[in-house]
Amino acid sequence: MILPVIMAGGSGSRLWPLSRQLFPKQFLSLNGEHSMLQTTVQRLSGISHAPAMVICNEEYRFIAAEHLRLGGFDHSGIILEPVGRNTAPAIALAALQALKNAEQGEDPILLVLAADHLIENNQAFQSSVQNAIPFAQSGQLVTFGIVPTAPETGYGYIKADASEDDAFVVNKFVEKPDLCTAQGYLESGNYYWNSGMFMFKASRYIEELKKHRSDILRACEKSMAATAPDMDFIRVDKTEFEACPDDSIDYAVMENTDSAMVVPMDAGWSDVGSWSALWEVSNKDANQNATKGDVITVDSSNSYIHGENKLIATVGIDNLVIVETKDAVLVAAKDKVQDVKSVVMQLKEAN
Ligand code: GDD
Ligand code: MG
Repeated sequence: MILPVIMAGGSGSRLWPLSRQLFPKQFLSLNGEHSMLQTTVQRLSGISHAPAMVICNEEYRFIAAEHLRLGGFDHSGIILEPVGRNTAPAIALAALQALKNAEQGEDPILLVLAADHLIENNQAFQSSVQNAIPFAQSGQLVTFGIVPTAPETGYGYIKADASEDDAFVVNKFVEKPDLCTAQGYLESGNYYWNSGMFMFKASRYIEELKKHRSDILRACEKSMAATAPDMDFIRVDKTEFEACPDDSIDYAVMENTDSAMVVPMDAGWSDVGSWSALWEVSNKDANQNATKGDVITVDSSNSYIHGENKLIATVGIDNLVIVETKDAVLVAAKDKVQDVKSVVMQLKEAN
């Protein structure tokens, strides 16, 4: 049985001021009426699966539970992290919990998903997931690969080797290369972007983590041994989990394992990690402006303009991002939006 594990712990600081520490990207409705978390669960509807498990910071427990409830979705538990330790530990907690819940002798296949991705073509997503199942069943760690279109440095890069029908053996996995390396990978044409979605048996992830980062696994085992059930929530022990090293699955496991496969996915995927990425995937007018809310544009082009409360009027602008919320307004050059996270850092320091 496939058990979806939805990681919903990020703080999405590059989408400030819409995304806030207490209301991050995965709980926003960026494209339509449903939140990104709800859309992530909905996207699974064509696949036979157990109710999803959600893992997030304890700060998000009520909002996560509420979004699942309003969406009408069952779940297999909401695991609460007392502190963020990145995705390698988060997935380890979910894998340990899945094995604990499983019938004796059962080894659930985890479909690990980020709660904050946009995917345009659900059918293509579902068919890649189906293609991955036999490889996960045979003990491989499957990642879903996206054909790269730019030398993005915020992604993992996967070099594909020999092909086996719908999948390729991973020759090399490089997380967040520098720009020059990313450019080389893009030009060589042999590389996929790592989509940040994975599929493997719970036991195989645990084995690989033990092999490559036994310190993380040990800390997670201790943290889970001391969990406290609290209604729908599974609360991880704070003292033990604070002692867990911080690392992502990409660095801790995917760069090191010999058992990785990549299944290509051509589904209009975007991790909408920034305002410019959101502009890319939004509907645009004849002048390439994407607008949301009450907006009037005159002689304006290539901009993302989003008003929550007020009318926004622009005259003679090009390549800007303007986002208005109740208590903050962002005006940024569209090619500098990666630096919005510096604003968030400054605000944190000031508080
Ligand atoms: N529960 C939990 N706890 N979730 C977390 C944590 C955590 O400590 N940290 C991050 N997440 C969630 C985020 O909410 C997001 O959904 C997902 O895990 C990935 O984390 P990001 O922080 O967004 O990772 P990234 O974008 O830098 O890199 C990953 O995704 C890229 C594609 O978007 C990597 O897997 C890259 O290789 C990949 O290309
Ligand atoms: Mg991301």
